[in-house]
Amino acid sequence: MTFKPAKWPRKLRSQEWFGGTSKDAIYHRGWMKNQGYPADLFDGRPVIGILNTFSELNPCNAHLNDLAERVKHGVYEAGGFPVIVPVFSVSESGFRPTAMMFRNIAAMAVEETIRGQQMDGCVLLVGCDKTTPSLLMGAASVDLPSICVTGGPMLNGHFRGEKIGSGTHLWKFSEAVKAGEMTAEEFVEAEASMSRSPGSCNTMGTASTMASMAEALGMALSGNAAIPAVDSRRRMMAQLTGRRIVQMVKDDLKPSDIMTRHAFENAIRTNAAIGGSTNAVIHLLAMAGRVGIDLTLDDWDKLGRDVPTIVNLMPSGKHLMEEFFYAGGLPVVIKRLGEAGLLNKDAITVSGKSMWDEVKDVRNWNEDVILPTEKALTQSGGVVVVKGNLAPDGAVLKPSAATPALMQHKGRAVVFEDIDDYKARIDDEDLDIDETCVMVLKNCGPRGYPGMAEVGNMGLPPKVLRKGITDMVRISDARMSGTAYGTVVLHTSPEAARGGPLAVVRSGDMIELDVANRRLHLDISDAELAQRLAEWKSPVERPNGGYAQLYHDHVQGADKGADMDFLVGCRGNAVGRESH
Ligand code: FES
Repeated sequence: MTFKPAKWPRKLRSQEWFGGTSKDAIYHRGWMKNQGYPADLFDGRPVIGILNTFSELNPCNAHLNDLAERVKHGVYEAGGFPVIVPVFSVSESGFRPTAMMFRNIAAMAVEETIRGQQMDGCVLLVGCDKTTPSLLMGAASVDLPSICVTGGPMLNGHFRGEKIGSGTHLWKFSEAVKAGEMTAEEFVEAEASMSRSPGSCNTMGTASTMASMAEALGMALSGNAAIPAVDSRRRMMAQLTGRRIVQMVKDDLKPSDIMTRHAFENAIRTNAAIGGSTNAVIHLLAMAGRVGIDLTLDDWDKLGRDVPTIVNLMPSGKHLMEEFFYAGGLPVVIKRLGEAGLLNKDAITVSGKSMWDEVKDVRNWNEDVILPTEKALTQSGGVVVVKGNLAPDGAVLKPSAATPALMQHKGRAVVFEDIDDYKARIDDEDLDIDETCVMVLKNCGPRGYPGMAEVGNMGLPPKVLRKGITDMVRISDARMSGTAYGTVVLHTSPEAARGGPLAVVRSGDMIELDVANRRLHLDISDAELAQRLAEWKSPVERPNGGYAQLYHDHVQGADKGADMDFLVGCRGNAVGRESH
């Protein structure tokens, strides 16, 4: 793949606002000058929007103002004009009913923020789970030169001599409390030990996965994903990113040049190699939709199948992002894909160089963190897509986080109609359930929850946990936190709230999961299934106005990336008429 840089100098988009001596130009420039900008900043140099997802209610991104200043330095050094622009910041740990419900409104707001204002290029300053995909989606739909820089992961957590990871140990400790192995006081003591520095989750959860996806797609500078938030090299990366975007504008190197089908294939394989979050499936499908790439769930199953998971990080393995960085980080993994013939080497990155040129000379500094292939966590990493009469449009499972013995399993369904039903009954000692059962949770999909909550890894019943059992087959239309683990079938499509077959599963039905044959089967006759579906009525009420109603009416299924139907596609950067 070759990219031919545009000619420079040429007239940039921002000059439609700032160029000339008309009343409109003076209006646009003059008001900006109230900030003390010298006149030559408006002379036609690239105007770079630093889209900043800083928010004190988004703790993973609360340190981004410092990085924004570093980006600014870089832009000035390269001869650009940087402006920091705050954008919608979706916090995973705060937003209700779910952060996922707001990914699309954030993407829509980002798209309009870019298109409607005087920018020639963008730096996407992101961190927490939804901020990375929402800004990449918005930028892709505008298609101005854009580059991503993430805030970086938190330092390792430590508790009583043990290394503990964001999220992963929250689930572990929570189960330990339920099983009577840990007190509530100890649980509280662990919380500060888990989050002891600025940054995003330090496991290979969704934030680290999406940072890795941005890099594997070629949308961030090589080496960006793993640098800890508080490491001085994170600031350096921000500054270099600022320098780079100016040249990208001059070259007119756009997301559509970088986020090609080859780039998505690289990202899917990278996700398999790192044991990345199942959330990446949804976000990459949505991002591909924004640049018009026809990516499907089947691509995920096919492309990840032969890729061993070689990154030994929680939740699939034992280390954390700090060790991953010290071992060499994502470039080492991408190089390994290239050596194995599993990389589109010629994919162009934000650097203007090919992906292979970026990674070919890196070294692995720790083979216990980035494992030799023969010691891989699983030889067939990636995300498995199962289909069948219970999931006609597919459902996903992450084999590296699952129990091998449960990947072929037939069991009696114990059904929870929604998350409230689950919470009300799961601790009941009289619940008719044992470890051979299949737990089924409905109405937690994009429309059902709403927003597709991360509850698919629903905790096991206490009476099962007390036997020392830590995993059971669980099936839902929900998502699962990237920091979680278990034999968990997720994103079942169509979701229950749309009348997918999941909606009519009853307690006592037999369900068969056969990962090797990619099958998820509800053991009732076709006639019985059709009869139940004909009698089904949606339990979900249409919200009464506002964004919730817009979301309900337009969100697509998980198999389509849960983007809004009217936001799919690239709408370009042309602006409307002058405002005055
Ligand atoms: Fe923000 Fe995990 S909660 S990165």
